[in-house]
Amino acid sequence: MSQLKVSNDSWSSQTVFILAAVGSAVGLGNLWKFPYITGENGGGAFVLVYLACILVIGLPILMSEVALGRAGKANPIQAMSNLAKENGASKLWRLLGFNGVLAGALILSFYTVIAGWAVAYFMQSVRGDFSGITAEAAGVNFDELLANPLELLFWHTLVTLVTIVIVSKGVKGGIEKAINFMLPGLLIILLVLLGYAMTTGSFGDSVRFLFSPDFSKLTWESVLVAMGHAFFTLSIGLGTMMVYGSYLSKEFSIVKASFWIVIADTAVALLAGLVIFSIVFANGLEPGSGPGLLFQTLPVAFGHMWGGWFFGSLFFALVVMAALSSAISLIEPAVSWVNQQWGVERTQAAWLLGGIIWLIGVGTVLSFNEWKGLHFLGERTLFDSLDFITTNIMLPLGGLLMAVFIAWVMKPSTRADNLELSEGWMNLFVLNLRWGAPIAVMVVFASNLVSADRVGFMIAAILGIYAVYIWQVRRG
Ligand code: PFF
Repeated sequence: MSQLKVSNDSWSSQTVFILAAVGSAVGLGNLWKFPYITGENGGGAFVLVYLACILVIGLPILMSEVALGRAGKANPIQAMSNLAKENGASKLWRLLGFNGVLAGALILSFYTVIAGWAVAYFMQSVRGDFSGITAEAAGVNFDELLANPLELLFWHTLVTLVTIVIVSKGVKGGIEKAINFMLPGLLIILLVLLGYAMTTGSFGDSVRFLFSPDFSKLTWESVLVAMGHAFFTLSIGLGTMMVYGSYLSKEFSIVKASFWIVIADTAVALLAGLVIFSIVFANGLEPGSGPGLLFQTLPVAFGHMWGGWFFGSLFFALVVMAALSSAISLIEPAVSWVNQQWGVERTQAAWLLGGIIWLIGVGTVLSFNEWKGLHFLGERTLFDSLDFITTNIMLPLGGLLMAVFIAWVMKPSTRADNLELSEGWMNLFVLNLRWGAPIAVMVVFASNLVSADRVGFMIAAILGIYAVYIWQVRRG
């Protein structure tokens, strides 16, 4: 039997781990994506499903993923290999690691493009371009940015380069300082913006839009998007939290850390939503206007509020920082795999993978202009297709398999060693991971595959297949 390959790095304290994990979770997903998909999917009912997914699926899978990393002590592929061996399970569990490494790379390829928009907006804000800007002009300004492939390419390249440089120096080096500053800064500016939102006269509409559910607006596709986003925003399902967990020593509490990650992440998303929709309704803008929502609304606020130049520049700088601390975590599973598995030096691995990811990102850049008419999955552009496949398919699938591994395959003693839950909570946790979370994910998947009148049949079929599959897994 070959030796298990393990990583010897570790976080200097529990706080550093929490900061890094929160840095990974809080990013464009909260500030840019949550508001725009909420707008596209009709508001309240979508938000409710999203919050339910965070609590019932996201939190337990986050705890599981960190625990898998700590117990497997390596990058996602190697960690799953180690764990499969230790628990007498099939070698095929490695594929779960591959799914994550690939998803991380694909997400990063468009993530850097969007982060590039934030850099462009930081520059505009510093130049004073938003002063007195109208909602209409802000819309035109955004459209002009998207129509310019060279500018988008420039910012995409810059963000990719910075990500590579940080990753090649080792993730833990500067991350603590950066996040110490970023998170409180972001919260303060969001609170300032919340103050502004209350003066727009549309704050009540915004609260109603986000928190009073109208279920007639909910489709199975919206449920899939809400569930996918729960994975995306918590950085789970692809192995990022597994790698971060692999640097975590035995004495730290995974349960406590996971709660903090979920609370910080959800708070930032909801605050951003409240602010953005106040501006949307005050200016007669369209909530469902798509990926440009943040960039078409906030300049209006900064252009009209006291200290707007200062807060605007600081805000976009913080968005860039939040994006970078997530970007480094997206490439980390791949880099640590290439480094640990192939013995390629960390710096070289970062440049090599970064180069490939940059190239895929060029496709996303073009999907907003030259390739706008090119459709892949149904009506989706290349950017929309990459986002859909990774967020709505690969991450939930990865999470589902992690749940199955923790709940059905892992030895109860290893599970108990890594998750310090009381007996009652542990039973509930395992029950949820055995049946609740996996079935919920599969039902949402299935409902998107068949027409409404066949959903019942499909669910019954899934339960049957799942039962047979688990029976197989249990037999080894
Ligand atoms: N959670 C990040 C965000 O909300 O922006 C995005 C992300 C980072 C997703 C890392 C997945 C991941 F592994």
